[in-house]
Amino acid sequence: TTNRTFTMIKPDAVADGHTGAIIQLIEAAGFRIVAIKKTQLSADRAGQFYAVHQERPFYGDLCQYMSSGAIVPMILEKENAVADFRALIGATNPEQAAEGTIRKKFAKSVQANAIHGSDSDENAAIEGSFFFADLEKF
Ligand code: CMP
Repeated sequence: TTNRTFTMIKPDAVADGHTGAIIQLIEAAGFRIVAIKKTQLSADRAGQFYAVHQERPFYGDLCQYMSSGAIVPMILEKENAVADFRALIGATNPEQAAEGTIRKKFAKSVQANAIHGSDSDENAAIEGSFFFADLEKF
C-alpha cells in the first residue's frame, strides 16, 4: 500500500548545492513529493525535532549542526515509503553506506550525512507535521 515518509536535506548538502541532484534521485526512485520547503531551524527547534536523541553524546553537536544553515524538509509518498527510502539513502555512517545510495554520494561524516529519513510510519507522520500544516500536504 502507498504510504508516506519524511525527509530533510541537511545543511551541508544544501550549502554545497546538492539539493537538485538529491531531489532528482528521490523522484527517479519513484517517490512523489507531497510537500517541500526550504527553511532553517533554530537550535531549540532542532532540539525538539531530535528530542528522542537527547541522552546521546552527540545531541548538542547535532542540534548545532542542524541549525547551522538552510534545510529542505519534504514529505514523500510511495509504496513501502519508509523502508524503501531508508534503502535509497543508505546507512547513517557514510563509510557503511552502500554504493549508489544518497549518503554514499553526498554525506561527509556520520553527523553531516546529507539527508534524514524517518524510521517508522508513526515517526514519519510526527516529523512531517513538525514542518507542514495539513493544508500543505497534498
Ligand atoms: P539522522 O538519521 O537524521 O538521525 C539522527 C542523526 O544524528 C543522524 O542522522 C546523524 O546526523 C546524527 N548522528 C547519529 N549517530 C551519530 C554519531 N555517532 N555521531 C554524531 N552524529 C550522529
